[in-house]
Amino acid sequence: MAGLRVLVAASEVAGFAKTGGLADVAGALPRALARRGHQVAVVMPYYNSVRRAGVPVEKTGVVLPVPLGDRVLACRLLRSRLPHSDVPIYFVEHPPFFERDDSAAGRGLYQQAMHGGYKADFPDNAERFAFFSRAVLETIPHLGFTPNVIHANDWQTGFVPVYLNEVYRARPGYARTRSVFTIHNIAYQGQFGRDVLKVAGLPGWLFNPAQLEFHGRLNVLKAGIVFADAVNTVSPTYAREIRTPEFGCGLEGLLTGIGDKLTGIVNGVDYGEWDPAVDPYIAAKYTPETVVENKALCKADLQRQYKLPEDPTAPVLGMVARLVSQKGIDLVLSAAPGFLDLGCQMVFLGDGDPEFHEQLKTFRDRHPDRIGLHLGFSEALAHKIEAGSDLFLMPSRYEPCGLNQIYSLRYGTPPVVRATGGLKDTVVNATEESLAAGTATGFAFTDYTASALYETVRWALHLHHDRPADFLRVVRTAMAQDWSWDRSAAEYEALYRKVIG
Ligand code: ADP
Ligand code: GLC
Repeated sequence: MAGLRVLVAASEVAGFAKTGGLADVAGALPRALARRGHQVAVVMPYYNSVRRAGVPVEKTGVVLPVPLGDRVLACRLLRSRLPHSDVPIYFVEHPPFFERDDSAAGRGLYQQAMHGGYKADFPDNAERFAFFSRAVLETIPHLGFTPNVIHANDWQTGFVPVYLNEVYRARPGYARTRSVFTIHNIAYQGQFGRDVLKVAGLPGWLFNPAQLEFHGRLNVLKAGIVFADAVNTVSPTYAREIRTPEFGCGLEGLLTGIGDKLTGIVNGVDYGEWDPAVDPYIAAKYTPETVVENKALCKADLQRQYKLPEDPTAPVLGMVARLVSQKGIDLVLSAAPGFLDLGCQMVFLGDGDPEFHEQLKTFRDRHPDRIGLHLGFSEALAHKIEAGSDLFLMPSRYEPCGLNQIYSLRYGTPPVVRATGGLKDTVVNATEESLAAGTATGFAFTDYTASALYETVRWALHLHHDRPADFLRVVRTAMAQDWSWDRSAAEYEALYRKVIG
C-alpha cells in the first residue's frame, strides 16, 4: 500500500519543549510513522526552549502570512529534524507570542507564576494558539508534500480542523486533506469568550451549541472534536470513560453522540529514550538478566541524589508527575505516614500547583531522612527514579494514557496504579491468579481512597519482602512487555486510512 503523507501539529514536542506526555507522543509517533514508510512532518511553535534545546535549527526563507483578527502577522518558518531521525520539524516563529518562556522567571509554555506561586494561564493563550493553528494550515504549501492527513492534538490545535473545513477547503492543495484530532486530556479544553472567534477570523455563526459554543463560551477542544474527521484519545478505557459524566468534563454528551468517530489508541514508548539497557542517565544499565544487581546500584545512586541514607533494605517508592490534582498526590500524602511505618523511603519529582509544592515540602521537612523531594523539571532525575525505585506510584484520579507507568514496566519498577484510563489498559494487577499465571506486571486498585492505595502498596511490599521470587517474576514480566510505538503507529495508520477513505 502506498505510504501516507501526514502533518502532525502539536504545542510541545520532546527534545524541543515539554511539559508532559503530549511532547513524548508528538516526538515519537511521527518517527514511528516514518519507519513504517510514511512521509511525515511536524509543526510546533518556536519557543525560547526550542532555541535553548541545543539542536541546530535552520531558516527556510519562508515567511507565512498569518491572519489574526484584523491584522495579518508575518512569521518565519524555521526547520530542524526530530532527534535521531530524518523527520522534518517546522517551527512557527513569532517572538511576542512564543518567546516568553523562562523557568527562572516562572514563565512556562502556557502559564506564568503569579504572586504566591499560583500559576495562571497567559491571558492571550487563545490568540497565541489560534495564531499557531492558522499558521499550521499556512505551512502546507511549503512542506514539499500535500498531506492526506493533518493530525492535531489537544485544545492548542483544536482550531486546525475548523480552519481546514471552513477557511482552507476551497484552496488548491487542501481539498482532499482530512483531519484527525487526538484528545490527550479532556480536562484542558481551552475555553474563552465569544470575542475570540473574531480574533481567530472565524464566522460568528459557528458560535452555536452544535459547533463551537459550550455554555455561552467558546470551547476550542470541542471545536476540534466537532470539525475533525476522526477523533481519538490515548487509551480505549479513557475513550469509554469520557463518554460518562464522571470523566467527560461536560463533553460526554457530544462524545456519546459521535459514536465510533471516537476511538482509543494507547500511546507507545520510545524505547530509544526509555530503556534501562541503554539509558545514559542511570548509574548502571541493566536487562532482565542483570536487573537484580544493577538495579541495586541505581537505587543507591538515587538515594545519594536525594541525600537519603543509602539503605538497600528500605523500599523506595518513586513518583514523577505534574503536581496537579489529576495525579492523586492527595492520596499519596494521606497514605504516606503509613508508608513510612512500613519502612519506606519516598522520592518525588514534580512541578505544578503551589499547594502540592507546600504540602510536599512540609512533609519532607518533617522526615528529611526518609523523603526526597525535587520540585522542578529534570530529565535526568526522571530516569533515575524510574530505575532506582522499588515501586512507582501513579494513583491517578483519571489518566488518559499515562506514560510513566509504561516506562516503569520497562525499568522493572512495578507501578502501583489506580485502575483508570490507560493505567487500566497497560498494567496487569498482581493477584494470586495472575502471579500463578505469570502475567502480573504491577499493582492496581479501584477506589480513589488513601486506604486502597495503602493496602495495595502493603501487598506489593509483602511480595517484595516475603515472596522475592514472585516479586522478581513480576519485575521480569513487566520488563518483557512491548509497548513500542510500532504497534500504536500501526493503529494510527489504520485510522488515517479510514478517514481518507
Ligand atoms: P502527563 O502527560 O499527564 O503529564 P504522562 O505520564 O503521560 O503524564 O507523561 C508525563 C511525562 O512528563 C513523562 O515523560 C514524565 O517523565 C515527564 N515528566 C513529568 N513531570 C516531570 C518532571 N518534573 N521532570 C521531568 N520529567 C517530567
Ligand atoms: C496527557 C495525559 C496523559 C497522556 C499524555 C500523552 O497529558 O494526562 O495521560 O499519557 O497526555 O497522551
